[in-house]
Amino acid sequence: LGTSLIILAMCSSCVSVSLEQSSSSYPFPDGFLFGTASSSYQFEGAILADGKGLSNWDTFTHGAGHISDGSNGDIAVDHYHLYMEDIALMENLGVNSFRFSISWARILPQGRFGDVNMAGVHHYSKVIDALLATGIQPFVALTHYDVPQELEERYGAWLSTKILKDFGYYADICFKYFGNRVKHWVTFNEPNVMAIRGYRSGIYPPSRCSGSFGNCTKGNSVKEPLVAAHNMILSHAAAVNIYRNVYQKEQGGSIGIIMNSIWYEPYSNTAEDKLAAERAQSFFLNWFLDPILHGEYPKEMRHVLGSLLPSFSKEDLKKMRQGLDFIGINQYTSFYSKDCIYSKCKSGAPGVSPAEGLALRTPIRNGEYIGEPTSVDWIYVYPQGMENTVTFIKDRYNNTPMFICENGLGIVENPSSSTIDFRNDVKRVEYMSTYLESLANAIRKGADVRGYFSWSLLDNFEWLDGYTVRFGLHHVDFATLKRTPRLSADWYKEFILNHTKHA
Ligand code: NOJ
Repeated sequence: LGTSLIILAMCSSCVSVSLEQSSSSYPFPDGFLFGTASSSYQFEGAILADGKGLSNWDTFTHGAGHISDGSNGDIAVDHYHLYMEDIALMENLGVNSFRFSISWARILPQGRFGDVNMAGVHHYSKVIDALLATGIQPFVALTHYDVPQELEERYGAWLSTKILKDFGYYADICFKYFGNRVKHWVTFNEPNVMAIRGYRSGIYPPSRCSGSFGNCTKGNSVKEPLVAAHNMILSHAAAVNIYRNVYQKEQGGSIGIIMNSIWYEPYSNTAEDKLAAERAQSFFLNWFLDPILHGEYPKEMRHVLGSLLPSFSKEDLKKMRQGLDFIGINQYTSFYSKDCIYSKCKSGAPGVSPAEGLALRTPIRNGEYIGEPTSVDWIYVYPQGMENTVTFIKDRYNNTPMFICENGLGIVENPSSSTIDFRNDVKRVEYMSTYLESLANAIRKGADVRGYFSWSLLDNFEWLDGYTVRFGLHHVDFATLKRTPRLSADWYKEFILNHTKHA
């Protein structure tokens, strides 16, 4: 890997690339999963097919003004109907795993207040069978931001402890119907992002905000993101307990959680900025992982937030002790973190409220960016952030098995497909190759990383950016839904071939 060579020759109308890569060293352990990732709302479409209920994202995207191009996931990339075609693309890539999420509202349109939608169950059963028939292991999340709208309306979803019962009920159904074939379960994808964007900045459903985010009027308490997160942690524990007590022994799988991770580099060498970087990490990543793995919120959160932070009962702690089997990590970007407790930060800037640990997040220092800026405003190409994040998690959580559940480069593109040169995808190849190199370094130094999933198999619905930001190894023409491999698809195929041990 260290000597992998990418030869790029570009001219105005062509890009030719030699994908020559060295296969002399194999840092990836036996059984390593190389895959691509997806999620139900971003991929499936089929908004009302076969008895599906509405999710919070269906409702949100249909409200005016939320999504930059006015789009929604009603059709998305129609993976619900085109999954066989997509599995053929995966087969061609040579991946041995596919990460997807189940739409809760497809299985339980009214949560536990209605019937199980067997048509939804059959759909996922068919997908799982088709993947396995192709030698691709399903890696399945129970939630990837979307929850049945019914639960939002009945009791405010994550703001109520009632959701614990609903989540457990739903998880049980998934384990029961799919657990004989699914060996990797994920309770939540990025609960930290769900809590922050849904309940602090209010830019995701249910559009509630608190603290210093002034434009949104629906929220009413700085406590809300903390309460929502607390209920997600307890819901994770509820699902893990059901899995451990009823299914795991017989089914022989594993269960974990996926966190969005940002690498925080201290803004300066001062002790204050170093502490600020630690605080930023605690208020983002350790916020969930510490309670699940250490039984309490990180000390920085307890110190800054005091009694605002919900507490765990003895009964909760007993359930939480079941922990998890692996930590999933979504790693794309890095920022500097600057102290705002001991020194003054511009008030009103994101990050200066107690709710964010009084640490200012900024990509720029003395006029220089932490990594190469990209067309996506939050992605800075800083490959070292991958090794640093993995090593940080390894050290803090006793080298719990890890999976890189997402990594990839989004590119803002003009949606008119006729003007796009699909093969001109050098930036994405460079991004993947340097981040994988950095991951390999962490593995060589002893990190127990067991898989890597590229985000994403296809261009898809990128939340607030609608269809304007493309992450796919395959280009999708959203008018015809035609999939076309990009250069990065060929490169990833070659990479997998060169870094997998063959008998
Ligand atoms: C993380 C999220 O899990 C995924 O849904 C999203 O599309 C990617 N990041 C890119 O923003």
